[in-house]
Amino acid sequence: MLDFVTDKTHNEARQGEAYAPFSGDPNQYKKRFYIESYGCQMNFADSEIVASILNKEGFGATRNLEEADLIFINTCSIREKAEQTVRKRLTEFRKLKEQKKGMLVGVLGCMAERLKSKFLEEEKLVDIVVGPDAYRTLPGLVEEAESGQKAVNVLLSREETYADISPVRLDSNGVSAFVSIMRGCNNMCSFCVVPFTRGRERSRDVSSIIRECRDLFEKGFKEVTLLGQNVDSYYYTPESTQINSPETPVTFAMLLEQVALISPELRVRFSTSHPKDITDDVLHTMARYENICKYIHLPVQSGSSRILQLMNRTYTREWYMAKVDRIRQIMPDCGISSDIIAGFCTETEEDHKDTLSVMEYSRYDMSYMFFYSERPGTLAERRYTDDVPIEVKKRRLQEIVELQNRLSQESNKKDLGKTFKVLIEGDSKRSDKDWMGRNSQNKVVVFAKENYALKKGDYVNVKVEDCTQATLLGKIVK
Ligand code: SAH
Ligand code: SF4
Ligand code: F3S
Repeated sequence: MLDFVTDKTHNEARQGEAYAPFSGDPNQYKKRFYIESYGCQMNFADSEIVASILNKEGFGATRNLEEADLIFINTCSIREKAEQTVRKRLTEFRKLKEQKKGMLVGVLGCMAERLKSKFLEEEKLVDIVVGPDAYRTLPGLVEEAESGQKAVNVLLSREETYADISPVRLDSNGVSAFVSIMRGCNNMCSFCVVPFTRGRERSRDVSSIIRECRDLFEKGFKEVTLLGQNVDSYYYTPESTQINSPETPVTFAMLLEQVALISPELRVRFSTSHPKDITDDVLHTMARYENICKYIHLPVQSGSSRILQLMNRTYTREWYMAKVDRIRQIMPDCGISSDIIAGFCTETEEDHKDTLSVMEYSRYDMSYMFFYSERPGTLAERRYTDDVPIEVKKRRLQEIVELQNRLSQESNKKDLGKTFKVLIEGDSKRSDKDWMGRNSQNKVVVFAKENYALKKGDYVNVKVEDCTQATLLGKIVK
């Protein structure tokens, strides 16, 4: 997560095949499916819902493509490049399909929603197209496709939250899990395709969220990340069971608190916060509970008030900077990260410099950085001209990346000598003699196992002795 990713979506680091190990007799399943996910954490969480729906119908997951009767690809439309990646992967699936008679290919997620049945015309070997709100109908669609029809369901819903479905944890480390708390987005950031692919915002039933988090904790998970495109606008009104009893709506701050109260041993994270919506209430709740991680992903997108207005972000540069001040005032040790877009329509050198200076001001620990990619149907595509030349976009992005590298290095250097409580996630990438975990601020910490009897999912205090740009290196302290 702390690698600097350019032109990649959140958590694309986790990209790759997802699988659920077979439980019990492998012959218990009538069919096997393989699912691969692209895009944001929401998509990864959705694949776990899809796996659950398919499991119930007697389909078992496999991570072996050759073995699959059904191949699903859960797609992302956020930038053109994300769609190109999916198209490339589809051509590879096509070859497999030619070799294996009866194998079906299904496209799920945002690209399915954006292109709808056009997908079937463009990609002749795709059999099933399903949008993010229609996964419950997948088993029926598979049947239709098996009988030779093309199966499409891209209906968006105002209610669907899959609240009652327990996700099948795919490719999980058994320590940390994503929990969707809402779907869709009502903001109309002019560059963004998400409101079109995911539909209207709706909040999931609070009791089903708490149940899922508690269940995860009971299964040994130690960290949950509450997911939504704009978590601060979470708002759930429970249906009143008693006549005349007042309904008490649940805000994001209240939800956070309820999840934090499950156990002090369960860490709580969330993503994404919109600078216009994050409240003092949320910040104070974070400060009050040690197990709510001191880390906020607060995408700025641009540091120029003029560009922010064109982007329809509804805050100014000054408002954003005041939010950063407020966070640091309430939680001086809070980590902050960002998303930044270089080269949005009409962006001048002056605007670009404003972005660099807001980055300096905010001292981000890390950022996801992209150059602007025009998306069909968005407000920006309809209203503005994508007029910053690609070389200029790339050069500005490069400057943003270089600045972020320096800021990350500086942020890590400040941690030298400090001791952090780290949640162990597993072996480090480089050596099984080292553990890898994260501190509350979401920084990756690597340290020698030594002779301590520790396992993943344990908390341990680690003193930072050295660092790279992306990682803190430390030693266990007793
Ligand atoms: N809901 C989240 C982000 C969703 S998309 C939020 O509001 O912050 C993740 C990131 O992709 C965005 O924050 C933005 O930086 C980037 N992004 C979205 N649309 C883009 C586009 N058309 N071109 C380039 N980057 C884009
Ligand atoms: Fe897109 Fe804006 Fe919604 Fe985020 S808040 S998903 S950037 S429209
Ligand atoms: Fe991509 Fe859809 Fe997420 S467009 S970023 S997968 S909501």
